[in-house]
Amino acid sequence: AEVKKIAVVAGDGIGPEVVAEAEKVLKRTEELFGYRFELSHGLFGGIAIDEKGTPLPQETLELCQNADAVLLGAVGGPKWDNNPKELRPETGLLGIRKALGLFSNIRPAVVFDCLKDASTLKPEVLEGTDLIVIRELTGGIYFGEKFRRDSENGQEAVDTCVYNVKEVERIVRQGFEVARTRRKKLASVDKANVLETSRLWRETVNRIAPEYPDVELEHVLVDNCAMQLLRRPSSFDVIVTENMFGDILSDEAAMLTGSIGMLSSASLGEGSFGLYEPVHGSAPDIAGQGIANPIATILSVALMFRLTFGYAEAADVIERAVKNVLDAGHRTGDIAVDKSKAIGTQAMGDLIVAAMTK
Ligand code: NAD
Ligand code: IPM
Ligand code: MN
Repeated sequence: AEVKKIAVVAGDGIGPEVVAEAEKVLKRTEELFGYRFELSHGLFGGIAIDEKGTPLPQETLELCQNADAVLLGAVGGPKWDNNPKELRPETGLLGIRKALGLFSNIRPAVVFDCLKDASTLKPEVLEGTDLIVIRELTGGIYFGEKFRRDSENGQEAVDTCVYNVKEVERIVRQGFEVARTRRKKLASVDKANVLETSRLWRETVNRIAPEYPDVELEHVLVDNCAMQLLRRPSSFDVIVTENMFGDILSDEAAMLTGSIGMLSSASLGEGSFGLYEPVHGSAPDIAGQGIANPIATILSVALMFRLTFGYAEAADVIERAVKNVLDAGHRTGDIAVDKSKAIGTQAMGDLIVAAMTK
C-alpha cells in the first residue's frame, strides 16, 4: 500500500500520554488493513522552547509541511505561562495553524448513549445530541494586531478583531457544505448586535444562503447560543462561527458528551491535508499520572482517516471500537460515575486497540 506520512507533534503535559495511545491505534490499523504509515516526531510547544528556544522550530514546521497529515497532542503549562508572547507554547499552536493555512476547525460533539449519565446535564436533555462546531481558525481576535500603550489611566492593552469577506465566505461555505451531508441545519453564530465583524459575517451568510436552499439556516447570537446549547442541545446540527466564539462554544459542547476528553478535531485548509488534535489542552493538573482520557485523540485519528486519507472503513473500525469499549462499561476518571473503578490512559488505549476488528 501507499505510504502515508504522518508528522507527530505530541507537545506538553498529557499531550505525549494521549498521543502514545493514538499511535497504537495507527499500528493496529496497519495490521488490520495493510495500510502503511510513516511517523516522524517533532518538538513542539513548551518542550521545544526548552530544547530549541522556540515553540515552533523550523524543522518541526517542515516536518508538518512534508507530511500528508499531522497528529498533535496539546501544548502549554504553568512553566511557560509568564513567558513573553514569542516564547509561549500557545503561540506555536497558532503559528502552525496559520503557516499550514488551516482555516477550518471541525469539532464534533456526539453523545454516546452509554455516557448520558457521565454528563452534568440531565440524560433526557442530551438524548440524540450529535452536533458539529465549525470554528474559523486563522482569523479574528486571535490574529489581529495586539499591543500595549500608555494612557492617562496607566498601561492600556489592545487586541483587534479583523475579518475580511473572503475569510468569512470560505468558512461559511464549509458550514453549509457540511450541513448538507447531515441533517441540513446550520446555526450561524455571531454577535451582530454589537460587533462590526459579526455584521459582515451575517451579511455574508445571508448573501450565500440562497445557494443552499436545502439547508435550514438560523442566526443565533453567541450569548443566546451558549444558553441554547444547554437548553436544547439535540436541536443543533452544524454550528459555524468565528475563532474565539468557536473556541468557547466547543468546550461548552464538550460537557454535553461527558468530558472534554471525548472531543476530537480536524483542522483543514483548501486541500486534503489536515491537522488532527483533541480539543482539550495539556491538562497540567493531571499530567504525568497516566489517567488522561485518550479517546479524543483516538477519535481524531478516525477523523484523519475519513477526511484526509479517505479510509472510511478504518475510521468506522475505530469509532466502533470506542463505542464497544464504552458500552462494556470501561471508563477513565473524567467519564466515570464510580471514580473508584476508573482505568488509566494506557488501559483505555489497549482496550480500544483490542476491540478494533473488521
Ligand atoms: P485543559 O483542556 O488542559 O484542561 C481543562 C480541564 O479538563 C482540566 O481539569 C483537565 O484535567 C481536564 N482534561 C483535559 N483533557 C482531559 C483528558 N484528556 N482526560 C481527562 N481530563 C482532561 O484546559 P486548561 O486547564 O484551561 O489549559 C491547560 C493548558 O493547556 C494551558 O497552557 C492552555 O493554554 C493549554 N491548552 C492547549 C490546547 C491545545 O494544545 N490545543 C487547548 C487548550 C488549552
Ligand atoms: C484550542 C486551544 C487554543 C485556542 C489555545 C491553546 C491557543 O484553546 O485549541 O481550543 O484557543 O485555539
Ligand atoms: Mn480551546
